[in-house]
Amino acid sequence: MADKIEVLISKEAVDKRISELAEQISKDYEGKEVHMIGVLKGAAFFMSALAQKLTVPVSLDYMCVSSYGSSTKSSGIVKIVKDLDEPLMGKDVLIAEDIIDSGRTLNYLKELFRDRGAASLRICTLLNKPERRVVEMDVDYIGFDIPDKFVVGWGMDYDQLYRNLPYIGVVTPDAKA
Ligand code: IMP
Ligand code: MG
Repeated sequence: MADKIEVLISKEAVDKRISELAEQISKDYEGKEVHMIGVLKGAAFFMSALAQKLTVPVSLDYMCVSSYGSSTKSSGIVKIVKDLDEPLMGKDVLIAEDIIDSGRTLNYLKELFRDRGAASLRICTLLNKPERRVVEMDVDYIGFDIPDKFVVGWGMDYDQLYRNLPYIGVVTPDAKA
């Protein structure tokens, strides 16, 4: 038996939506350079696809974070597993995320990057689960709002698998696993 995966958003729909986001972001940042920061591992696929379609100059950096075990999750403490390579002072930062769920991760990163002196800070996420939000925040660019379902593909995993799927799928785990 294997996990069952149903297509929620097709590859074509994701590709089209990323092109639309890239067009909007390129307009909004005209005359500027965008410093994109991807939150590993999930955002890697979305950030690469989006960055390739931007028409403004782009630099890239990556951050890897994990939340401290589920028991302390309500504290919103996020652990930095890999920090950025570049300073942020004076840069126009665009954070790329795969999905915003509770909002805790991004809330933490926004404050951190602001403290590090970013000139501007915006958030771009492929998916958004509005029903699950615990921390209020403005999200500047959203690919798709989705219902409260566990999804994989486009960087998102279930037990580290399925990140490479080129569509967004809903997983029903193998009952025997
Ligand atoms: P937040 O801090 O609760 O907003 O956490 C968001 C992070 O949780 C995302 O960047 C994902 O890594 C992970 N996540 C949330 N929902 C899903 C899902 O449906 N599938 C896979 N990963 C998810
Ligand atoms: Mg993530």
